[in-house]
Amino acid sequence: MAKCVLVTGGTGYIGSHTTVELLEAGYEVVIVDNLSNSERFVLKGIRKITGKRVPFHKVDCRDLTRLGHVFARYKFDAVIHFAASKAVGESVEQPLLYYRNNLDSLMNILTLMRAHQVPNLVFSSSCTVYGQAEKLPVSEQTPRREATSPYGNTKHMCEDIIRDSVAAYPEIASIALRYFNPIGAHPSAEIGELPRGVPNNLIPFVTQTAAGIRPVLSVFGDDYNTPDGSCIRDYINVVDLAKAHVVAVKRMTEGKMKARFEIFNIGTGRGVSTLEVVRTFEKVNNLKLNYKIVGRRAGDIEAVWADPTFANEELGWKAEKSLDETLRSAWKWQQHLDGKQ
Ligand code: UD1
Repeated sequence: MAKCVLVTGGTGYIGSHTTVELLEAGYEVVIVDNLSNSERFVLKGIRKITGKRVPFHKVDCRDLTRLGHVFARYKFDAVIHFAASKAVGESVEQPLLYYRNNLDSLMNILTLMRAHQVPNLVFSSSCTVYGQAEKLPVSEQTPRREATSPYGNTKHMCEDIIRDSVAAYPEIASIALRYFNPIGAHPSAEIGELPRGVPNNLIPFVTQTAAGIRPVLSVFGDDYNTPDGSCIRDYINVVDLAKAHVVAVKRMTEGKMKARFEIFNIGTGRGVSTLEVVRTFEKVNNLKLNYKIVGRRAGDIEAVWADPTFANEELGWKAEKSLDETLRSAWKWQQHLDGKQ
C-alpha cells in the first residue's frame, strides 16, 4: 500500500515542488495550508504536472483542534512540516507573530503525531542557523551561531524542540533539512515561487526586473570580503531540494535512520556571488538586467555555502541541476506567470 505523507505548507514554494516529487515517487499526499502566503491555484499546477488530485485542507497549523481532525481522518506515515513564516525583515517587526506561528505550529504537529501514532517528521530548517561561520563551507558539525533575527531564532528553537521531543518520546523520530538558498521552478513552469508584493529574495526580484515589473534590481553591497565584493550564497534548485525530502521520508519509513534525530545540509557545495547570479541570469536567458549597486542590507551575512558531503554519502542525495538550468527555469516561470496575468 502506498505510504501517505502529510505536507503542511504544501501550496507554498518548496511544499508544492515536494508534493510533486512525492506523488511521482508513488506516495499519497495530503496538503494542509492556511493560504497565508500561497494560492489555491497551485493545486491545479500540481494536478497538471502529476495528473493527480491532492486532498487539500485549508487549516492553520496553530489550530490544534482543526489540525487534529485532519490527523484523525487519514493514516499518515510521515509529516513534512513546511508551514512557517519566513521573511527575515517582517520577523524583526513582528516577532510575536513569528514565534507564535513557527513554534506553536511545530508543537501542535508533534503533539498530534504522538496522539495519532505518526512516527516520522521531516522539518524545514535553514542554513540561517550557522550565521556567519568562521570556516567555510559549513558542515553539520559547524557550531550554530546566535540568530540575528526572530525568524532565524525560530529555526534554532524548532530544531531544539524536535531534539528534546525525540529524546523524550521514543515513538517519534525526525530529520531536519537545513536548506541553503532554494531557487528556480519546476521545468514545466506549472509551479514556482509566488512572492506577494515586493519580493524580499533575490531571484524573484531578478525575474520581476527582467519582466519590467520592477524598474531596477538593487545589489546589496559590493564591498564585502569576497572576490567580486558581493555576498556569496549556495543556490540550490528547488526540484533538487524537493527530492531531498522524498529521500528523507523513504529513509525514515524504511527504518534506515542511524539516530532518531538527524540533520542534513541541503546545498550544492558551491558558493556563488550575487553579481555572478545576475551575469549568469543575463547570459542563459539572453537579456540585459537593469541593476545598480547599493549599500549593504542590514542583517546580511557575507558568505555561506554548504559542505553537503553528509547528505551526499548518507542520504545518497546530490544536487544535480546546474545554475544555468535553474536560472532558465526561474525565467520561464516568470514568463508563464506574466502570460496568466
Ligand atoms: C535568508 C537566509 C535563509 C532564509 C531566507 C528567508 C541566511 C544566510 N539566509 O536568505 O536561510 O531562508 O533568508 O527569506 O541567513 N540580494 C540583493 N538584492 C535583492 C535581494 C537579495 O542583492 O533585492 C542579495 C542579498 O544581499 C543576498 C542574496 O542576494 O546576498 C540572497 O538574498 P535572499 O534571496 O534574500 O536570501 P538570504 O538573505 O540569503
